[in-house]
Amino acid sequence: MNRETTIYRLLEETEAYLRKIEATLVEPSQRDLVVGFAEDFHAESIRPALLSQSRSQSVRGLRYAPVLFDENIVRCPELFDAALGAFPYAWWSEFYEEAHWSKSFVSRFATGECIGPTGRFRSDSIILGLFILGPDTHYPAHAHAAEEFYIVVAGEAEFQTGATSDFIAKRQGDIVLHGSNVSPAIRTSSRPMFAIYSWRGALDEPSWYRDNMADESEPRKFPNFVKSKRDQ
Ligand SMILES: [Fe+2]
Repeated sequence: MNRETTIYRLLEETEAYLRKIEATLVEPSQRDLVVGFAEDFHAESIRPALLSQSRSQSVRGLRYAPVLFDENIVRCPELFDAALGAFPYAWWSEFYEEAHWSKSFVSRFATGECIGPTGRFRSDSIILGLFILGPDTHYPAHAHAAEEFYIVVAGEAEFQTGATSDFIAKRQGDIVLHGSNVSPAIRTSSRPMFAIYSWRGALDEPSWYRDNMADESEPRKFPNFVKSKRDQ
């Protein structure tokens, strides 16, 4: 299977999964989010991007991949297979530079854009990628204008949606939806997590955070992204 077919398969399987779970969602706002993503995926025509062949940054969070690949997947096997197929072609990065905000988790964090402005396949309207969070890790709350989802495909994590909400456990096959500027946080305990993630909408607007997401202080922008380098 070539790269293009593999990445298309991830796009198609994710769209199919979104259509399947749409019917199970009770909240209209959540259904609207899912339908919006599925429609964008359906319309998306991706094109290969020219990327530099090597990256100097090592992505430490990828060391958790083998244990995640070994899991017995019963709730979303097609999606898991599609994620595995795309795995070698994702543009893996630690995404954040080590700063006070990120130091505790960035070495256990790996994000691999498959489709997007800096992915191996170019889109300016969606991002579709893979995501690993290591065990005993807390990805602190942050927010962004783009809408977002995660579908857990292996392992498990707890997700907080909104600064004052409870953390809720999610496992293989579960989806987590975040509307525009809703702040998510993710934490794991003894097991890592492997997920498919996506953004749609305002891809260019930077993420922001507060030390306490529930207060009204001036949000801080992230100055510390590690920009993917690609040939222009
Ligand atoms: Fe996010």
